[in-house]
Amino acid sequence: MSADGHIGVYPPLAPASLWRRARHDWFPLDRPGLRLTHLGRGAVWLALEALGLGRGSRLAMPAYHCGSEVEAAHLAGVEIDFYRVDGQLRVDADDLARAAAGADAVYLISHFGFPMAEVPGDARLVIEDAAHGLFSADPAGRPLGSRGDAAVFAPRKSLGVPDGGAALVGRSHALRDVDRRPARGAMLRSAASLTAGWAALSRVPQVRRAAAGRRRHYAALLGDLAELAPEPYRSLPDGVAPLYFPALAADRDRAIVRLLERGVRALEIWPVPHPILDRRRHAELEPLRAGLLALPVHHSLADWHVERVREAARKVLLG
Ligand SMILES: Cc1ncc(COP(=O)(O)O)c(C=O)c1O
Repeated sequence: MSADGHIGVYPPLAPASLWRRARHDWFPLDRPGLRLTHLGRGAVWLALEALGLGRGSRLAMPAYHCGSEVEAAHLAGVEIDFYRVDGQLRVDADDLARAAAGADAVYLISHFGFPMAEVPGDARLVIEDAAHGLFSADPAGRPLGSRGDAAVFAPRKSLGVPDGGAALVGRSHALRDVDRRPARGAMLRSAASLTAGWAALSRVPQVRRAAAGRRRHYAALLGDLAELAPEPYRSLPDGVAPLYFPALAADRDRAIVRLLERGVRALEIWPVPHPILDRRRHAELEPLRAGLLALPVHHSLADWHVERVREAARKVLLG
């Protein structure tokens, strides 16, 4: 539940964060060199810099993105070549291979906590964006963000805190110390957010329970709503801990209002791409940008919350 009594997409911060000490025994917290940042976009910027990517480099990025990760790369000065993601949110492997062949690095995004696309064989460097996949793994059991040369996380989305990103780079690269820090108030808020977030979910069994809860809730929605999700999200591969349930609405604004009337606070999913994307070239994504919304499945929901989400979504989206 959010503070206003609605069932929200992001979890509330667990009260246990007030007394529990944060522990660092699960991925990516157990990795030496993990760098915490104010937001995920700062982590993108730092990761690019650590890999030596800046002005004069070329980065392959997906046409379907949130926008802030692209903005970080754009600000870092890299030239961006967008690879195709189709109207069902499947990465076009051929176009990814084409972009990878001409790029210094490939940027792969986990959508909603589902595993990223396969890394093309000739990719020189790989950055994994696991902003949606903090507790998630691929079917082989590898945590999202553990395979690339660098990974980016946005733990705030999974932990229920206002701030917090993280960057991780492989052994052969180093994140430099940041010389310009955010204002003191923002620093304090980020540090407190992350500490509280980690403390709330501080032990491996809790993290496993959180992942299992997200899976259970997602599976409960799949029962009735599978046909509303883009195709790859109509089943739940082993290991995946979804961030939320993506559902396509014919009239999203109206659907969000009607869901809210039933106590469910849905969110728009990535309505606007970064302005440097040629939207006409990737027009197949427009229906998703206009219609996709996120339904809550987070680990703090009780069964009756999920039931309410399911009922509301059935009424509003399936009519
Ligand atoms: C895929 C993806 N990457 C990176 C980010 C950046 O995270 P933040 O909003 O914490 O900067 C977001 C969210 O905004 C995202 O959805």
